Amino acid sequence: MQNILLTGGAGYIGSHIAVELINAGYFPVIIDNLANSSEKSVERVGKITGVTPKFYRGDCRDEKLLDKIFVEAQISCVIHLAGLKAVGESVEKPLEYYDNNLNATIALCRSMKKAGVKNFIFSSSATVYNSKNPMPLSEDSVTGGCTNPYGWTKYMIEQILSGVQKANPDWSVTLLRYFNPVGAHKSGLIGENPRGIPNNLMPFITQVATGKREKLNIFGNDYPTKDGTCIRDYIHVLDLAKGHVKAIEYTLNHNGVEVFNLGTGQGYSVLDMVEAFQKANNIKLPYTFAPRRAGDLTECYSTPAKANKILGWKAEETLETMCADSWNWQRQNPNGYEE
Ligand code: NAD
Ligand code: UD1
Repeated sequence: MQNILLTGGAGYIGSHIAVELINAGYFPVIIDNLANSSEKSVERVGKITGVTPKFYRGDCRDEKLLDKIFVEAQISCVIHLAGLKAVGESVEKPLEYYDNNLNATIALCRSMKKAGVKNFIFSSSATVYNSKNPMPLSEDSVTGGCTNPYGWTKYMIEQILSGVQKANPDWSVTLLRYFNPVGAHKSGLIGENPRGIPNNLMPFITQVATGKREKLNIFGNDYPTKDGTCIRDYIHVLDLAKGHVKAIEYTLNHNGVEVFNLGTGQGYSVLDMVEAFQKANNIKLPYTFAPRRAGDLTECYSTPAKANKILGWKAEETLETMCADSWNWQRQNPNGYEE
């Protein structure tokens, strides 16, 4: 059985990847400092699959700890999810974001070099694309011109990893640009667990549904779209996780740097999401229109053609299952992993 190191593997996306890795016959080894997560997610992965990942509580900037992990576990491939990810917070605390996200990546590359591990998959984001690109976004669309430190860390890490691969031609680096992950595992045992007031749409919606928030504020209804609200490419976290299993197969069998969009290719508006959530769950969702949110793009959606063709991966879930599974998780865990 091959061991896969998941940095940030106790988080929302990492815990779902851990389940899919186990389903595919891999063994996940996790390092997470729990800055934005709970170790309970790791236990729940064990409950779902019958296999509990090996867990190290620690910081990815701690190179000594990484060295120890690479000695203790024979790692075939690293999936690097660890990072801070709140856009607004990154504007307030740029140094924390650059320090955490960049230095974690550098320590990881150094430690991998020492251990002779050469396969690297990075959790990048659609946020690296320049806002002036026409839609849909392909891997050849222009990148850069990011509008916040979080986005710049993703952009810079892509550059760092490309440079490391160039200097080490036997490395294989796969950059996965995620669009908007939503949904949760069908069991309702793992899901998104934001701290404080959610910034993102789906966790806000599910907290309105539990009654924790009074109503959804829809940021802007005067955009040049079919109903005036912004368009995004929402992707079920299970589909996203399965994309990583395909990416491992690819990464293990190629050298070089390759970029893939992980999205559905389908854009939905905020009002589409509200309607789909109400219909899928038979819940009335109070909402009101509020001013635009600074920095929001009118539309952002992918073409996933490259991942479809080269990875043999395609998103299969629907808007309905994204909404039903998000609610199933939140309904069963109204306070996330806290009792
Ligand atoms: P998350 O916050 O749930 O997971 C990230 C995990 O990394 C957390 O468990 C956190 O505790 C851990 N972490 C942070 N800094 C660390 C450090 N220095 N050392 C060890 N652990 C550390 O977020 P997520 O939604 O699961 O996102 C996972 C990755 O995917 C992130 O890199 C994020 O930027 C990227 N991404 C997420 C989205 C999204 O919408 N969720 C979109 C695009 C890209
Ligand atoms: C945000 C980040 C982006 C990050 C992505 C995934 C910003 C400016 N961008 O993107 O960098 O990669 O999350 O983590 O923060 N909305 C509401 N009301 C709400 C919340 C959201 O109307 O309470 C709307 C937004 O205006 C947007 C859509 O819902 O049109 C989706 O918002 P969100 O979930 O925050 O994702 P993005 O804006 O795509």
